[in-house]
Amino acid sequence: MRRFAQRACGGVLAAAVALVVVGTARGADDGDANELQLGKTLFTVGANPPCATCHTLKDAGSTGAVGPVLDDLQPTADRVVTALKSGIGMMPSYGSTLTDAQMRAVARYVAKASGGAR
Ligand code: HEC
Repeated sequence: MRRFAQRACGGVLAAAVALVVVGTARGADDGDANELQLGKTLFTVGANPPCATCHTLKDAGSTGAVGPVLDDLQPTADRVVTALKSGIGMMPSYGSTLTDAQMRAVARYVAKASGGAR
């Protein structure tokens, strides 16, 4: 009998976690692309609970239906940060689970991806 190599199914998650760590350690000057990628990762899997669970955002491939469709709402980054810090309605606050830099990254990503960035 031949043994097949095992695949590491944790690879994707490990990469996501690594991205979050790298993104946090770097300064904002390391570029928009890096921050937006970090924001997307937080949106889809990194935040606890992930935004994708409750929100639809086309760019992130998410179809959550608990909260407003972000593609329609088109919030500015400031509006997202406010919601993340204090929570709003059924949405939990992320003030104790995300750093300020992480909240900013996810906010900038949502604003940009939804068309709310100006
Ligand atoms: C448990 C479900 C849930 C999760 C997880 C969640 N949200 Fe929400 N979100 C909601 C609901 C419900 C509302 C509407 C609240 C209201 O207006 O009463 C909302 C509202 C918002 C708004 C609009 C705020 C405003 O000013 O009207 C933004 C922006 C937003 N969420 C972004 C996010 C982001 C980014 C994340 C992840 C870090 C996230 N949400 C995670 C449920 C969720």
